[in-house]
Amino acid sequence: MSALLKIEGLCKVYDDDSREHAVIDDLNLEVAQGEFLCILGPSGCGKTTLLRCIAGFEHCKGKILVDGREITGPGTDRIMVFQDFNQLFPWLTVEKNIQFALKRQGIRDRARLEAITSDVLKKVKMDGHERDYPYQLSGGMKQRVAIARALALKPAIILMDEPFAALDAITRNTLQQEVLAISQQENCTFIFITHNIQEGIVLGTRLMLMQPGGKIAIDTKNPIARPVSPSSPGYGPLWDRLYAALYDTQHANNT
Ligand SMILES: Nc1ncnc2c1ncn2[C@@H]1O[C@H](COP(=O)(O)OP(=O)(O)O)[C@@H](O)[C@H]1O
Ligand SMILES: [Mg+2]
Repeated sequence: MSALLKIEGLCKVYDDDSREHAVIDDLNLEVAQGEFLCILGPSGCGKTTLLRCIAGFEHCKGKILVDGREITGPGTDRIMVFQDFNQLFPWLTVEKNIQFALKRQGIRDRARLEAITSDVLKKVKMDGHERDYPYQLSGGMKQRVAIARALALKPAIILMDEPFAALDAITRNTLQQEVLAISQQENCTFIFITHNIQEGIVLGTRLMLMQPGGKIAIDTKNPIARPVSPSSPGYGPLWDRLYAALYDTQHANNT
């Protein structure tokens, strides 16, 4: 089966005070349709940069193909959900936030817009909040709406950059379970960045560990049957392996 996402020879260089800094150097990656790829890695290793390249937000060298077509910029086939709670338009209600991009896609029929909005809000358990403004919502509720807004566009790939990192542990666990359920219902591929090994193992069908320079140190299928808990067979050894690799790279980074 050919890959949904294919990245060939990706290089991204930033200029720091006229010094060139290669954040990603010759990264190659294939992601199949329906995979839930979790990417772990120490701060500054280039995870966000990789996601931004896939989203089409960055100029970079190399090729990024989605469904065989090379991307040239942002598109509604790749939607990003950020960590920041303030990613919604603060002047629009929940339903208008969701409908904004749909209208720009040319969907004008009111009944259709309402049907899509109602469907995605139910998926993230936010039905009943259509008329709320973002300032009336908790951080977890804002993230749910951001996910609903992404789902509404029916993207091929949802890119999530530590979306739950700023949530409390209980809300985070709840949202993990809900994203897991959504990923099993939707015909969508997820690329999800996290610093949290547990989160990666619970959500990912595949786990990757990035090192500085965008090098891929570990790339493995998640062998643990869902639903995953710390008592699942194989959880401990997988957690240990990821932990050792993550902290080795951090140590290497500091020396
Ligand atoms: N716009 C930018 N200009 C210059 N350097 C940047 C920019 N964005 C990120 N970087 C640098 O690129 C490296 C990787 O950043 P990032 O992709 O955000 O890492 P991660 O998400 O893994 O923490 C860091 O050293 C960071 O300082
Ligand atoms: Mg980042």
